[in-house]
Amino acid sequence: MTSITEQLRELFQAALQDILGPSGQGVDPLLRPAADAKFGDYQSNVAMSLAKKTGDRPRDLAERIVQSLKERSPAILDTLEVAGPGFINIRLSDGWLADSLNAVPAIPDTAAADRLGLAPARDPQTVVVDYSSPNVAKQMHVGHLRSTIIGDAFARVLEFEGHRVIRQNHIGDWGTQFGMLIAYLKQEMPDALDPSREVHVADLEAFYRQANALAASDPEFQKTARAEVVALHAGEPSALKAWQFIVGESRRHYLAIYQKLGVSLTEADERGESFYNDRLAPLVADLKKRFAPSDTTKNASATPQTPRVTVEESDGAICVFHCNADGEPMFTKPDGDPLPMIIRKSDGAFLYATTDLAAMQFRVEQLGVDRIIYVTDARQAQHFEMVFAAARGFSWTHRQGKGEVRLDHASFGSILGTDRRPLKTRTGENIKLADLLGEAVSRAEQLIRTNEADPAKRRGFSEDEIADIAEAVGIGAVKYADLCQNRQSDYVFSWDKMLAMEGNTAPYLMYAYARIRSICRKGSGMSEQVQEDTAASADSQAAPDGLDTVFKDPAERALALQLCRFAETIDSVAGGLRVNMLTDYLYDLSGAFMKFYECCPVLSAETAIRKSRWGLCDLTSRVLRIGLGLLGIRVVERM
Ligand code: ARG
Repeated sequence: MTSITEQLRELFQAALQDILGPSGQGVDPLLRPAADAKFGDYQSNVAMSLAKKTGDRPRDLAERIVQSLKERSPAILDTLEVAGPGFINIRLSDGWLADSLNAVPAIPDTAAADRLGLAPARDPQTVVVDYSSPNVAKQMHVGHLRSTIIGDAFARVLEFEGHRVIRQNHIGDWGTQFGMLIAYLKQEMPDALDPSREVHVADLEAFYRQANALAASDPEFQKTARAEVVALHAGEPSALKAWQFIVGESRRHYLAIYQKLGVSLTEADERGESFYNDRLAPLVADLKKRFAPSDTTKNASATPQTPRVTVEESDGAICVFHCNADGEPMFTKPDGDPLPMIIRKSDGAFLYATTDLAAMQFRVEQLGVDRIIYVTDARQAQHFEMVFAAARGFSWTHRQGKGEVRLDHASFGSILGTDRRPLKTRTGENIKLADLLGEAVSRAEQLIRTNEADPAKRRGFSEDEIADIAEAVGIGAVKYADLCQNRQSDYVFSWDKMLAMEGNTAPYLMYAYARIRSICRKGSGMSEQVQEDTAASADSQAAPDGLDTVFKDPAERALALQLCRFAETIDSVAGGLRVNMLTDYLYDLSGAFMKFYECCPVLSAETAIRKSRWGLCDLTSRVLRIGLGLLGIRVVERM
């Protein structure tokens, strides 16, 4: 399978070069799926935007593009039509669509390696995805849920595309609060450090609160806490031991959640704030020297890509100031004064931003990244804008002959309760992720046991099967309900909506998958005759050997087109970091399948048609399984 839009783009760019000469090469042909299938499959709006520049009439330009495309007579095109003010309507050829499906290799032995014959990215990149990143000594709450599952989907999609993905769990495991925690632990709970004592992250969280309260009221404790920070930084064994205990306990907690969530993060992906500790002081000293105001103001010419930055002392703190190409401050306080990014406080302490700069430098220089994606909530937008602008200003992202390192902040909104305020428990506390996931699974189980839609269906499931399906559906529902949102919007958390069997939900898609698999099983279990005709193997799960697609009914072609759109969907998720493009795609795919299945009998059709339709069923199930897999959602064969 190859991406339709990529093929069309190449064709259009060749045609545009015919017409415009070399300058046509870089022009974006502005391709999109046709708004209405009546007009074709895709449309290009390039003639209209180009005509503004060339001074031609858009329709004339469109005609010339069409002429040039026709002269090439590529197999992918059936008809081209100029419409309205200069749209080019494109209809793909049936033969090309059928061939594309027929070329998809039969399912490999290990379904996990199924790539549907998609070629890996031509220009594989090294990409850091920085996600999840909970804070030690606190339970993970719903806010970290979004980062964890959205980031994990990015990592899976990029990896599927053939990029080298480096997952980085930038946990909050450093900072002055640890002095307090260590002091409190040693003083109030010395036995917690005894390996035989069981301490849970909930205990840690309680003593985090207590330590805070104590620090507020007891100056003596404050002193001890400060001394513990110094001891920890100096690597004093007892402070280090207490710190390791706190981090280890927290780690156990979040690794258990990742496992429950089916998230691909492991302990090896953890590179927390503490990792960068030794780099902070030399980094700040170096930046202060190299970006002192006098030198940079003279030399550097700022551009929108590389702001001009200076690093200077202000009120005892060391600050980064960013200026745009016009010499104006890029960030300002409400009163209009420049807003600096502080990287060392006047008391010598380093900050969140300092660690992020050190992490960025490490990733660029040591990990050799081409791109870094940070997945955090939208409240950190300005923090990342400042960090990115600084990195560009320091020229860290600039590479000779290789293009800039791409930096993305994939931000997201909040999860709201039905009262449209950030989701809380009834008593107003943050909802614990562990509780939420437990509830998801038990609700899914209830649903399976009382399957109103089809009570006959669930008969015959063993208790183990019910538990397995409930796990997959419950966790899948929570993840899908999040991933199908435009990530920047807030959304209302609703059990009823996410667990619904109808609509754009995980249960609906998982059920569609299971139904199609059942059709495939029936197909392969049919008479000897069919087995011979289809050359299917005796394996009851086996797909027909190599597709031979025939279009008799428009619904077959519509399904085939939708299947072929998988490649471009994955490309746009990887490029634009919009996972909801994949959920929308999968939902549309099952819609196209349902229409097809309504009007195209599969098992009772005559041999050639049956084989073709059976092949469409099989391929649909593969695309659903792979697509949901990229979202980190596991399918079940029966439900
Ligand atoms: N620990 C942070 C928080 O909970 C998120 C860290 C995100 N990653 C980063 N490189 N800053 O808000």
